[in-house]
Amino acid sequence: MRVVVRSRSGGAPRCAAVLDVGRERRVGEHAGSGAWLVLAPVGRARSYAGCVKGFASDNYSGAHPQVLAAVAAANDLHAVAYGADPWTARAEQLLREHFGGQARPYLVWNGTGANVTILRAMCRPWHAVLCAQSAHINADEGGAPEFLVGCKLIDLPTPDGKLTPELVERAVVRVGDEHAVQPRVVSITQSTELGTVYRPEEVRALAELAHRHSMYLHVDGARLANAAAALELPLRAFTTDVGVDAVSFGGTKNGLLYGEAVVLLAPELAEGFAWVRKQSMQLASKGRYLGAQFTALLEGDLWLRSAAHANAMAQLLAAAVTGLAGVRVTQRVQANVVFAVLNPAVSARLQRDWPFYL
Ligand SMILES: Cc1ncc(COP(=O)(O)O)c(C=O)c1O
Repeated sequence: MRVVVRSRSGGAPRCAAVLDVGRERRVGEHAGSGAWLVLAPVGRARSYAGCVKGFASDNYSGAHPQVLAAVAAANDLHAVAYGADPWTARAEQLLREHFGGQARPYLVWNGTGANVTILRAMCRPWHAVLCAQSAHINADEGGAPEFLVGCKLIDLPTPDGKLTPELVERAVVRVGDEHAVQPRVVSITQSTELGTVYRPEEVRALAELAHRHSMYLHVDGARLANAAAALELPLRAFTTDVGVDAVSFGGTKNGLLYGEAVVLLAPELAEGFAWVRKQSMQLASKGRYLGAQFTALLEGDLWLRSAAHANAMAQLLAAAVTGLAGVRVTQRVQANVVFAVLNPAVSARLQRDWPFYL
């Protein structure tokens, strides 16, 4: 794959792009005007008149065709509702294969739901959750964890989205003081909201610290597959095997239509979890479609291929813009996210055709 950077001058006002993170490969050609940064496998672009290539979120991408096919295949005849169907059983079995025999998987609708239900299982109303300031639970869930878990989030500033034992240790204060909330959970995101990745030994150090203080370690793994691809490790090597207590395992950003999995690793968290999920409105009635999607993702290596492709596209973008005048990439590009500082005038112009977050 060659990277081409073209300016509009002299050429037709058309642009093509690859960067369909979360998809195996999809190339779009956009007939809008104004965009001039072109990343394209030469000679392969196809035309989708009027399509928007979104850089803002991996959720701008569609679902993988294999996932859609699995949903269609599961659509035959009737199946027992509420997850007591063979597709869900198979998906749960696959999740146990990936995370280990003690894993207790529960399929849910979305990532906020996965995070909230796990935190509900871990916390009582006087507990607190320590997380990075940039954590999705803190910055992007509209207060759902505070509202539905009923707990305080203590958000810690980090330069790269990663908590460290030092940062956490400093925040574990006033333990046993009835006037203060009691730290109960350390929540990290893997890969982080800033596109960085924890090494297994970094996760282990956080788990050991949390457990020393009778706390749980939760991993928001909306992009856990991207971390696995970046680390070139199986999922359990940087979760189950290093002491993580529960994982929100992302499906949507990895090619599903919708759907995430709660994976409980500390056995006591499973007690009553079925009711936590139901009360949190995360139990799907036609559960077979969730089961079928996860089965398509996890039965072979679709989850890993898609994540590795997304990571590679981020590397491609970062390499293409690094060194351009007025562009500074601010974080290590380890997963499928690129953070860069751009000249505001350039941002405004690019955003007309290429949505991305500011
Ligand atoms: C780190 C992280 N966690 C969780 C989520 C889940 O969000 P949603 O509730 O939209 O599925 C997202 C989505 O952007 C995310 O980036």
